[in-house]
Amino acid sequence: MLRVVDLEKSYGNKKILNQVSFQISRGEVVGLVGENGAGKSTLLNILATITKASNGFIQLGDFVYGKKMEDIRKIIGYVPQELSLWEEFTVEQNILFFEKLSWKRRTKEECRQLCIDMQLDQWKESVSSLSGGMKRKLNMAISLLHDPMLLLLDEPTVGIDMKSKNEIGKYLVKLAKEQGKMILYTSHDMNEITTFCDRVYAIGNDPFYINLLTNKGVQVEKC
Ligand SMILES: Nc1ncnc2c1ncn2[C@@H]1O[C@H](COP(=O)(O)OP(=O)(O)O)[C@@H](O)[C@H]1O
Ligand SMILES: [Mg+2]
Repeated sequence: MLRVVDLEKSYGNKKILNQVSFQISRGEVVGLVGENGAGKSTLLNILATITKASNGFIQLGDFVYGKKMEDIRKIIGYVPQELSLWEEFTVEQNILFFEKLSWKRRTKEECRQLCIDMQLDQWKESVSSLSGGMKRKLNMAISLLHDPMLLLLDEPTVGIDMKSKNEIGKYLVKLAKEQGKMILYTSHDMNEITTFCDRVYAIGNDPFYINLLTNKGVQVEKC
C-alpha cells in the first residue's frame, strides 16, 4: 500500500503541492490528472525519491520516506516524461545495459520475455529506428527490470499512436492485476484514463477534470 498524507511542496515562496493526500492499494491502476503546472510531475518526483517534499508523510509498504531511502528505491520503478535510452544501441543492447545498473539480476531470456510481453518485438533493431510508442515501451520495460512494487509513469502515452496506447494500457492493467503492482500514471487522454484506471485523483484546485470524469462515470477524487 502507498499512503500519502498532507504532502506539501514549495519552491521558494511558491506552493506547488498543498496538503495532498491519497492512497493506492496493491493491484490498482490509478490515474493522476490535472492541468499543466498543477504539480503532477513534482508529485511523481517526490514519490520516486528524486525530490524532497517540504512537509508531509509517505509510506510505501513497510517503509516510511525519510528513512532507508535506498531500500525504498529498490521497490520503485519510475519512467519520467523524457525518454532515457541509447539511440544508437539496439533494444537488446539497451535493456542489457540497464540490467547491469539494476540491483536485481535478470537473464537475457528474461529481458527478451519482458519485451515480448509488452509487444515490443524489435529486439535487434536500433532504438533510433523505433516509433515513439515502441521507445516508450522500452523505457517501461527497463523500469520493470527490478520488479518494482510501485510503478510511476509520467505521461507514458503522450504523442504515441492509438495501438501502442492501447497495448500499454492493457499491459499496465495486467501488471497490476496479475502481479499486484501499484501503478500511478499521468495522462491527458481522458478516454484512456476511463478505460484503464480503477480510480483517478485530480490535483490542483480547478474542478474541470473532476466534473469531466464524474460525468463519464469514473471514480475521481481531489487529492
Ligand atoms: N525545480 C523547480 N524549481 C522551481 N519551480 C519548479 C521546479 N519544478 C517544477 N516547478 C514548478 O512547479 C509547478 C508544477 O510543475 P509540474 O510538477 O511540472 O506540473 P505538471 O507536471 O502538472 O505539469 C510549475 O509551476 C513549475 O514551474
Ligand atoms: Mg508534468
